[in-house]
Amino acid sequence: MADLQKEAKRLVGARVVEWIEDEMVVGLGTGSTAAMAIDALGERIKGGGLSVRGVATSFASERQAQKLGIPLVTLDEVDAIDLAFDGADEVDPDLNLIKGRGAAQTREKIVAGQARRFVVLVDETKLVDRLGSNFPVPVEIVPMAVAPVMRVIESLGARPELRMGVRKDGPVVSDQGFWIIDATFDGPFDPIRVNQRLLQTPGVLDHGLFLGLTTDVLVGHSDGSVEHLQQKIDEVMD
Ligand code: A5P
Repeated sequence: MADLQKEAKRLVGARVVEWIEDEMVVGLGTGSTAAMAIDALGERIKGGGLSVRGVATSFASERQAQKLGIPLVTLDEVDAIDLAFDGADEVDPDLNLIKGRGAAQTREKIVAGQARRFVVLVDETKLVDRLGSNFPVPVEIVPMAVAPVMRVIESLGARPELRMGVRKDGPVVSDQGFWIIDATFDGPFDPIRVNQRLLQTPGVLDHGLFLGLTTDVLVGHSDGSVEHLQQKIDEVMD
């Protein structure tokens, strides 16, 4: 990772941790940027004066939090999450996202969906005009459904590819024991339609389009600045 990009990730990770207050339940995202925030949270807790409980979005964030002494709870033990932070692969102008480069999108979406505030942490390379510009949409599936789901993905105008392990033979297996098909769109697509069609398909657990979940985005720029984007709340007119 280039030094400037790494520094941008560190800065947004440090910034979101400043927003965390005593007694909060905090969603702990997955990926290299979320890991920076988890490190910063661990430092703040170690410094004393902050008591929080974390909800992990993956085995990776769970293990990191345990090593840093961040107390963890499950969704069975809390009514809601005060603030969840996470990285993203792409952020569009409406703050919709593609997530799941690290195959954690299903748990990440469950946690984001429970959060009062869902803060996305990115460096500036993740901002796009339209979703699908640089990354595929990961689709998490029951293994026996691979062929029918691939046909559905093709019918939506995308190229499906089963994600393969790097230091493991065979497909990537998610934390849930499912497989991932990456759907690459070569042109514009309607995220709402793709979301609906995928969720209606038997064998699909979930996918990496995060629509309408983001409340805030912290963007780390290469000049060292951090930009804060917020979801626009439409005014309701009587
Ligand atoms: C994990 O599956 C992903 O959703 C990550 O949160 C996302 O890919 C961003 O990761 P980086 O912060 O490493 O770019």
